[in-house]
Amino acid sequence: MQYRHVPVMVKEVIDYLNCLPGKRYVDGTLGGGGHAQAILEAIGPDGCLVGIDRDPDAIAYAGKSLHSFKPNVQIFHDDFTHLPQILSRLHTTGVDGILLDLGLSLYQLEGSGRGFSFMRDEPLDMRMNPEQGVTAAAIVNRLSGKDLGDLIARYGEEPWAVRIAKSIVAARRRQAIRSSLQLAEIVKKAVPARHRRRRIHPATRTFQAIRIAVNHELETLEKFLDEAVNLLNPGGRLCILSFHSLEDRIVKERFKALARGCTCPPHFPRCVCGKAPQVSILTKRPVRPGPPEVQENPMARSAKLRAAERLTIDD
Ligand SMILES: C[S@@+](CC[C@H](N)C(=O)[O-])C[C@H]1O[C@@H](n2cnc3c(N)ncnc32)[C@H](O)[C@@H]1O
Repeated sequence: MQYRHVPVMVKEVIDYLNCLPGKRYVDGTLGGGGHAQAILEAIGPDGCLVGIDRDPDAIAYAGKSLHSFKPNVQIFHDDFTHLPQILSRLHTTGVDGILLDLGLSLYQLEGSGRGFSFMRDEPLDMRMNPEQGVTAAAIVNRLSGKDLGDLIARYGEEPWAVRIAKSIVAARRRQAIRSSLQLAEIVKKAVPARHRRRRIHPATRTFQAIRIAVNHELETLEKFLDEAVNLLNPGGRLCILSFHSLEDRIVKERFKALARGCTCPPHFPRCVCGKAPQVSILTKRPVRPGPPEVQENPMARSAKLRAAERLTIDD
């Protein structure tokens, strides 16, 4: 399938990143290069962009679609947690803005053939980088029932996690679970009939949980947020687009901690840790796409954008 993705809240991202001609930016989740193209257009002939994605198909496609911007764009097949090493290889000490657009691309969901969707019959892989790590099939077939239940509850916030895990264990005793549709059917049957007609498909939360585990999505986000602010120039911006509550909670809490600085317990009469605030939060509440965008691009419906700015010495 042709690479397809519709970038979300492009205007808002460009505004919050404060894209200015001649400045240097990072797109840590390049995908099809939709946001990257808008950034490159806004920063003009002298600005530059470092683009990173761990999916080799995204890198191949973005390499072609952004070709006309060379040499102002440099593309890396890597994990965004390796941004410090990538910037040091480029002899760059700081950048003026970093974007992460988390979640899946439309291509990964519908065209990659890696079993991300419960609507398609594909091998149960779910790795964003198919050259690394453990597949969804390995997790589903090898984890103990208890660990599987914990995983589905934690990363899927699924109320029927224990029932689903028991059904998976019973099903795999008969036959190994190899395809996305096979898993979707097992989950659907495990959920009590009266709950199957919810607004969302009964396998949505289980698929989200397994995908998060396969790709270590929450750990990579936490690791990245711990380091990102040190990679920004003073006044540089960090923009994160998230697509579910677990991601958004991590971003919100991390931004709050960076804006607060001090880590002393609340009952301390005065600060002894001496940690200064590092950012100011630009989005008191997450920015959401408007109804026309959601109507045109249903994948945008759960998007939340949060942005923060690194404080300058004078702040
Ligand atoms: C929603 S898509 C990005 C779409 C992109 N903004 C565009 O306009 O086309 C998310 C992308 O992030 C990539 N990704 C997710 N986690 C990553 C990580 N830890 N390091 C690098 N890329 C990652 C995925 O492979 C996927 O291509």
